Amino acid sequence: MNAKVFTAINDQINSEFQSSYTYLAMAGFCDRQKFYGASKWLRLQSEEERQHGLKLFDFVLARDGVVELKAIAQPSANFESLAAVFEQALAHEQAVTGQINGLYELCFAEKAFAEMTELHWFLTEQVEEEKTAREIVAKFRMVKGDAAAILDMDRELGSRTTAR
Ligand SMILES: [Fe+2]
Ligand SMILES: [Fe+2]
Repeated sequence: MNAKVFTAINDQINSEFQSSYTYLAMAGFCDRQKFYGASKWLRLQSEEERQHGLKLFDFVLARDGVVELKAIAQPSANFESLAAVFEQALAHEQAVTGQINGLYELCFAEKAFAEMTELHWFLTEQVEEEKTAREIVAKFRMVKGDAAAILDMDRELGSRTTAR
């Protein structure tokens, strides 16, 4: 693997752990607001992002590369509402899709074929991540400020059981 590709994948590892931290901060906010269902959903999402980071971590090592764990920035922990948390989650996932696309483009240009294959998994994953976030956001937009409906949403989010 060439140095440019290694550096870019290390940046993506950082981004995945950053995502994990971001979702954990969101979970903390929801917990404080007593939205325990949303908090559970976000904790599982945080765990999922950690797994994404580890997947690339293991990949770099398998390619005999050096993993560089860079600093993670402090995520924001204040949101206007429960709905705003998920609006931000969707925007976040859209930004991550852009990163993965950029990384794939670099690997393509550098003829890093094994890395392109590894990134196929992430391209597919981003389709799922955006779809899931978009569905949640659509429901929040539908119910607007209806407290009973928001509590229903929180309960529904709490039915998530896996970090996938
Ligand atoms: Fe991810
Ligand atoms: Fe996922």
